[in-house]
Amino acid sequence: MMTSIRLEQTRSASRLARHAGKRIGLVPTMGALHEGHLSLVRAARDRCDLVAVSIFVNPTQFGPNDDFARYPRNLDRDCQLLEQEGVDLVFAPSVTEMYPPGAITFVTVEGMSEKLCGHSRPGHFRGVTTVVTKLFHIVEPDLAFFGQKDAAQVAIIGRLVRDLQMAVEIVVCPIVRDPDGLAMSSRNAYLHPRQRKRALLLFRALDRVQQVFAQGETHAGKLIEAGKQVIAEEPSVQLDYLEIVNPETLDTLEIVSSSALVAGAVVVGTTRLIDNIVLARSG
Ligand code: PAF
Repeated sequence: MMTSIRLEQTRSASRLARHAGKRIGLVPTMGALHEGHLSLVRAARDRCDLVAVSIFVNPTQFGPNDDFARYPRNLDRDCQLLEQEGVDLVFAPSVTEMYPPGAITFVTVEGMSEKLCGHSRPGHFRGVTTVVTKLFHIVEPDLAFFGQKDAAQVAIIGRLVRDLQMAVEIVVCPIVRDPDGLAMSSRNAYLHPRQRKRALLLFRALDRVQQVFAQGETHAGKLIEAGKQVIAEEPSVQLDYLEIVNPETLDTLEIVSSSALVAGAVVVGTTRLIDNIVLARSG
């Protein structure tokens, strides 16, 4: 069975491949893999000669009340799935390997890291950009693959790469949904069947926003109101935020003219879920 390798081995394997002229793709994950992750792996497979997947539940992106301790972990199953997908290298470091004792250096994309999820999860994006920078230094990928489901993460990593002039191309892959529309997430595993039904409300709210926009409404406040009304149908679903922002800067928009990201987060029971759509007119 496929096994994960350590930091120095990962670095050497990746360097060796580069010297052999191979194009290296990295898919950073926190494990508990689902079809969404596998779609990233397949996209990497299509465009790269060597595909590396990292599996690391990164403590610095979890707050004190977040689910770090109970986050689903199943390395053996993940490795099996990745072997079936033809992944060349799995890097699943320990916390001390990624954060040597005494490490005090962090990477922050200032001004963006406090937006959307960053507002209710202070320090979350600082943890993400720090670990992603480390992973990029270890693997030195030519391309790195991320899911559009974490739209704010994608925007912030795009800015990180731009500002630090990193030689990596960020590839963003579409959200993968269950047949009823629920965006795939490792955290969906926390949901009981009744909660899972309620979790769909966020997708329905986004869909309502899209419909109202398609009818001609461009005022962001009114669009958000239409979405919030859907969430309000189920009082046990707690809305964290529903916002319409510029997909690149994450600045809030008042009027939707060209491209706009509608992003939301809800809490169902104790599970926090996110989802988003990009507003587009059909036809
Ligand atoms: O999207 C995730 O799973 C994580 O935020 C990432 C990018 C692997 C960093 O820990």
